[in-house]
Amino acid sequence: HRLLQHLCLFHFLVVAVNSSVSRDGQEGSSSGREAAEPGKGPAEPGRCEVPPSHRFDCGPERLLARAGCEARGCCYAPVPSGAGGGQPWCFFPRGYRSYRAENLTTTAQGYSARLRRVAPSFLPGDVGTLRLDVALETESRLRFTLRDPARQRYEVPLPTPRVSTRAASTLYGVQVLEDPFGLVVSRWPGGQVLLNTSVAPLFFADQFLQISTSLPSRFISGLGEHLAPLILDTAWTKVTLWNRDMAPVPQVNLYGSHPFYLVIEDGGSAHGVFLLNSNAMDVVLQPSPALTWRTTGGILDFYVFLGPDPKSVVRQYLDVVGFPFMPPYWGLGFHLCRWGYSSTTTTRQAVANMSAARFPLDVQWNDLDYMDAKRDFTFNKETFKDYPDMVRDFHQRGLHYVMIVDPGISSSGPPGTYKPYDEGLKRGVFIRNATGQPLIGKVWPGPTAFPDFTNPKTHEWWHDMLKDFHDQVPFDGMWIDMNEPSNFVEGSQDGCPDNSLEKPPYVPGVFGGRLQAGTICASSQQFLSSHYNLHSLYGLTEAIASHNALLRIRGKRPFVISRSTFAGHGRYAGHWTGDVKSNWEQLSYSVPEVLLFNLFGVPLVGADICGFLGDTSEELCVRWTQLGAFYPFMRNHNDHGNRPQEPYAFSPAAQDAMRKALRLRYSLLPYLYTLFHRAHAAGETVARPLFLEFPKDPNTWTVDRQLLWGRGLLVTPVLEAGQTKVSGYFPAGTWYSLAGVGAAAGLLGADSTIHSKGQWILLPAPLDTINVHVRAGHILPLQEPAFSTAESRKKGMALVVALTPDGFARGELFWDDGESWQSFEKGDYTETLFLASHVSILRTRGHLDGILLEAVTVLGVTSPPRQVLANGARVDDFSYRSDTQVLRVPVSLPMWEQFVITWS
Ligand code: NOJ
Repeated sequence: HRLLQHLCLFHFLVVAVNSSVSRDGQEGSSSGREAAEPGKGPAEPGRCEVPPSHRFDCGPERLLARAGCEARGCCYAPVPSGAGGGQPWCFFPRGYRSYRAENLTTTAQGYSARLRRVAPSFLPGDVGTLRLDVALETESRLRFTLRDPARQRYEVPLPTPRVSTRAASTLYGVQVLEDPFGLVVSRWPGGQVLLNTSVAPLFFADQFLQISTSLPSRFISGLGEHLAPLILDTAWTKVTLWNRDMAPVPQVNLYGSHPFYLVIEDGGSAHGVFLLNSNAMDVVLQPSPALTWRTTGGILDFYVFLGPDPKSVVRQYLDVVGFPFMPPYWGLGFHLCRWGYSSTTTTRQAVANMSAARFPLDVQWNDLDYMDAKRDFTFNKETFKDYPDMVRDFHQRGLHYVMIVDPGISSSGPPGTYKPYDEGLKRGVFIRNATGQPLIGKVWPGPTAFPDFTNPKTHEWWHDMLKDFHDQVPFDGMWIDMNEPSNFVEGSQDGCPDNSLEKPPYVPGVFGGRLQAGTICASSQQFLSSHYNLHSLYGLTEAIASHNALLRIRGKRPFVISRSTFAGHGRYAGHWTGDVKSNWEQLSYSVPEVLLFNLFGVPLVGADICGFLGDTSEELCVRWTQLGAFYPFMRNHNDHGNRPQEPYAFSPAAQDAMRKALRLRYSLLPYLYTLFHRAHAAGETVARPLFLEFPKDPNTWTVDRQLLWGRGLLVTPVLEAGQTKVSGYFPAGTWYSLAGVGAAAGLLGADSTIHSKGQWILLPAPLDTINVHVRAGHILPLQEPAFSTAESRKKGMALVVALTPDGFARGELFWDDGESWQSFEKGDYTETLFLASHVSILRTRGHLDGILLEAVTVLGVTSPPRQVLANGARVDDFSYRSDTQVLRVPVSLPMWEQFVITWS
């Protein structure tokens, strides 16, 4: 029977039919129905009877009155006030024709067809003939591209998997509709339409490419970077992608571009769509529900990921853009930064204060303050006179050091005074303006040139400048800021030329209204193409150059945190969410931001703890530190001039609460590190939304005020002022509280256990507490916290074993030296699998040598054990509480050997 089923579904279904597809995605024959043609006007009655939520904008690039609208063959219907912004009043009639598919043929990878434009569009540079290629790349991945067969257009230079044959699939089927052209992807079994591009006409003009699709549900997530809830609003939301230096506010394009979305379908299946295109674009969501991609260049290059569960969708996306890099272990510790550590003395003082107040600290940072005249690769010889010594002293204490590096290179000094510019000029590394000269904008140091990181020569130069600097100041990681790139003058010091790249016929909804706003001229020239095409890749290409340079210089795992990002960024670097305000709203938005970047494959992400812009308050800073302890990347950073917000700057009670949160994080680092390993090795997420683990429970889909670490830990932060209770959603099952977690060695307390039917639960949350729950069935490896990971990595370990009602739990630990390059790839690691009643070491390379397992806490032990054995020997000092059902077993077992602990 299985075989039969396989054979039936095996064939990728392609039907070229002369049909149209109605708005709800149901196919119908077009015979007997006259397709409308542009320019004819809405002659045929009924053509304009399109329900408002199903209307697609026929005048996206300009305001059209009735005459202009009808001249396009579109329908005009003024929107009643109160109907909500975004609903178009000039919209395409039913059956509006643009392209027709012809010559559908089979290829080695799938199918191809020629698309012919049936009538001219209203935009300049229409491409009359297109080539459609559909590649059935894997069982769960489909790629389709639309290109101009007559002319090579710009394509995003992201390395993607090469697939030369077609893969069979039981997950989906595809139909190509002939006229008007459409592509329909349906889920098997069941036939639900996931994608149907025939709901609105296709456009493919030189600077305007548009394609729409129906969506099977309104639960859509992704499309970053934005300040938005995890699930986007489909009531006419326009999401603009064009990297931009912009303090995060809703509805505005921010620092990064991730043209990827994930939709949760009825029943909890999910699929994803990635448009591999880096041009300025808008993505419009409408309530039918449907989505329109509107981009200003490149080609249409789509990947569809068929899941069928949300986790698989993320992995399938990461199969294309790359799995995340493995951060060094110290990168998961606490990072301290501010703009305004104005000298080595103040920087040293911050470190000393942290240690005097007994706060853990792994990485000390400096902002622009260290630089001489705000120029990269220099340092102030007065205020930072002992800079190299300071960094060496930090190293002595087991700390690491990161400083800011901006891409803008000061260009105003006389020749011979500033090597990075002189050398950059000589080697031709800068982005050029229309006259072929380096484009000069303005950033912190004044006039600046912008390195072109798409040029291999620039990578060499960048490495050489960093190496020179590292020879003086042995920094450990890089903070790459301002890399959208940000520019304080519009375009350049001399403005921008008047051409179609600067002023495209369609300008997406970018903040500032023009592509050059806050950045450099779109028509400036880079090695690979125009900045118009490459703009949103600036941060990614700088991250790649920085990652590679650091690897060459230090020979160890690179640590790079970048503000600007693009799809695929997580392979090279992490991200912080930029200039967030010190307020409660931004605190709560940070949860969906962190979750989204995990879906984008950038798990090393966090917001500036306590907020960056404006003064924080003690309560906000305590709550932010508690949540920040569960950002995969944990850094407190502050704007210059603001009141201090280092943990030691607050009252003793606030400090106690922060200390507790930090100790909790440090206890959990072995678990966190293992999650990063899973992300790196298997394309998993670290911080994840509940829907990823519980897709069958629709209540989880919109939860974005809680986050999971992996599968086993649920974090329910307080995100509002003045609250001592917090409501959290607990999917069905048993959840053990980790309240009162102390050191690994036996201080674990589990004071309340939730047996949820899938419900909201109000939890006590006094100011010194963040609610963290372990999910039954999981074993978490912990380590006794210390004041840095250099110390904590040597401490005793502990296990928290959270039993299911039938006594099952499992967990794992990945361990290596914490910083060697590709330790996993080279096999230089230890991986341990823990099962509730015994442990098997899967592979060991000695990294755990000397580390003892000192405590095992078993949650959910329903009856008092009479006897506990560790490797067959009696443990006499175990303790058991029948009210909490917690069994504690102090042990002293080598972590590098197999062990068995039993209780009966
Ligand atoms: C902007 C960054 O977003 C911020 O974090 C930094 O402090 C300033 N630039 C100064 O370098």
